[in-house]
Amino acid sequence: MCGIIGYIGYQEAYPILIKGLHRLEYRGYDSAGIALINRENNLSIYKAKGRVADLEEFSLGKDISGTVGIAHTRWATHGEPNHINAHPHYSQSENLALIHNGIIENYAVLKESLSRKGYVFQSDTDTEVLVQLIEYIKTGNNTDISTAVQLALKQVIGAYAIAVIEKENPDLIIAARKSSPLVVGIGKNEFFLASDATPIIEYTNQVIYLNDEEIAVIHRNEPLRIVNLSNVEKTPQITRLEMSLNELEKGGYPHFMLKEIFEQPRTLRDCMSGRVNTGNRNIVLSGIVDHREKFINCRRIIILACGTSWHAGLIGEYLFEEFCRIPVEVEYSSEFRYRHPVIHRDDIVIAVSQSGETADTLAAIELAKEAGAFVYGICNVVGSSIPRNTDSGSYTHVGPEIGVASTKAFTAQVAVLVMMALSIAREKKTIPEKRFLAVLSELSRIPGKIETILQQNGYIEDLSKIFTYAHNFIYLGRGYGYPVAIEGALKLKEISYIHAEGYPAAEMKHGPIALIDNEMPVVVIATDSTTYDKMISNIQEIKARKGRILAIVNKSDCKVREMADYTIEIPDTEECLSPLLSIVPLQLLSYHIAVRKGRDVDMPRNLAKSVTVE
Ligand code: AGP
Ligand code: GLU
Repeated sequence: MCGIIGYIGYQEAYPILIKGLHRLEYRGYDSAGIALINRENNLSIYKAKGRVADLEEFSLGKDISGTVGIAHTRWATHGEPNHINAHPHYSQSENLALIHNGIIENYAVLKESLSRKGYVFQSDTDTEVLVQLIEYIKTGNNTDISTAVQLALKQVIGAYAIAVIEKENPDLIIAARKSSPLVVGIGKNEFFLASDATPIIEYTNQVIYLNDEEIAVIHRNEPLRIVNLSNVEKTPQITRLEMSLNELEKGGYPHFMLKEIFEQPRTLRDCMSGRVNTGNRNIVLSGIVDHREKFINCRRIIILACGTSWHAGLIGEYLFEEFCRIPVEVEYSSEFRYRHPVIHRDDIVIAVSQSGETADTLAAIELAKEAGAFVYGICNVVGSSIPRNTDSGSYTHVGPEIGVASTKAFTAQVAVLVMMALSIAREKKTIPEKRFLAVLSELSRIPGKIETILQQNGYIEDLSKIFTYAHNFIYLGRGYGYPVAIEGALKLKEISYIHAEGYPAAEMKHGPIALIDNEMPVVVIATDSTTYDKMISNIQEIKARKGRILAIVNKSDCKVREMADYTIEIPDTEECLSPLLSIVPLQLLSYHIAVRKGRDVDMPRNLAKSVTVE
């Protein structure tokens, strides 16, 4: 995680870097720091524990002049989140400053060797080792900074996106990446670099996404050069950004999360646009059309993801099994990659990720590719690492998701999985045409149905008052309702810090039922389904133990609403599409509880949006 940004040109760097840090703050907010070289060639570093706002306050009255600089917002991996461990880090001579996103895995060996050579370390970070190593190589070999960076990175094991500036060389920034993202923006007589394109978009739409083990030599007055670690020149591939600045603003909402929940009718329409066609009764996903035979003949699907994306993957399992009759395994990327998994050449691996940068998912993809499997990505961030490292895929097209708690990305991931399952099933002839058409036409009605759920926002806000002081929650669902239950529980715990567990409702009696008493709120997803009657029995079991029930029910429901203490109604739909509706009130419930508890909804403690470290 961590956000990194750099600027070199003819404008004052400080305001550009601070604004950029605010845009990147979703990536980490343990501390923030900035390094600037001023007109007298002084290299100054300012840093503060906490948020970018704390850095701004700390910088008041200091010399913040300079037209070259680098800045960082940290999510700590090595060393506690304090002032000393904040980036940028100086080299021993204070001639170099460096920022880093990633983990230097062999930092301990390098640190010991540098310590023996007289290097003294100020911080507990793995990052400081890198800046000292670069300086050691630069002075020892009497070489320039770009060569020193190349040589140092050859010794490094791990992940990095870095940027280095040198006091004696104020016209230059050196940046490099491996397994952590880095984008270079090309302006008029100026360059930008950042972990993603969001801080760059207001200055230029011309960007270059660096590839692994590439180094950008960014000189104020010269064309950009990209070289690899062996100094072989690479041709920069310029990409045009399609993002708009409005998408990065809150647009009148108090939080990005609420804005993103409310955007879902539009984002789902965007996601389905050009793909779901009710007129000619078809679903076209180009990533599948191009590889039709592979999907028809695949023996097994393995879905890889983390967190909320994993929950979407679980819904994918139900969909592919129901419609395509293909066996599916849904795996946490982090477990899969270290488990000696059995992967066949005729397996299809689907990697699901909002950011497209999740380190564990990227590593799991590599493993699948090595085993010869075909890898399909479902990602949101255009140009991110996962789409660039997969054989084919579909973007979710929901625009930037900034709230750390994923909402609109989740519903679009589910929509893509629905579209995939339906189109593959039709190709394989495992779905009757009538059923295909029924689900297709209902899918196109989902955005409108979400609009009606959003109209209950005020009611859900009122309900949240009742639950704000609960210490624990249980969420229960069966079938398609089970992934919704665990996603609902995750939403609540990550932003309100209330302990919440999601369970398959029938598993209750195997242990968790012991937790039920009159203080335990139990959220049940009790919408119409093949297991509706079973769910009613599970609700009876909770009622018998005096649990307080909040039920998500269909408009047409009459049984559950008689038993529940509170209900939230959602429109009727096809069972396989029900997660797209039932998750929305749970997103709103978590949001309002977190707001009432005074939590920082968009940037909850200890979390970061992109998990680019293991
Ligand atoms: C979602 O609310 C979480 N913050 C988190 O679980 C997230 O879904 C997970 O880190 C995966 O991220 P990705 O989709 O970008 O790969
Ligand atoms: N490892 C570095 C640190 O702890 C960077 C962390 C990261 O990128 O998340 O400071």
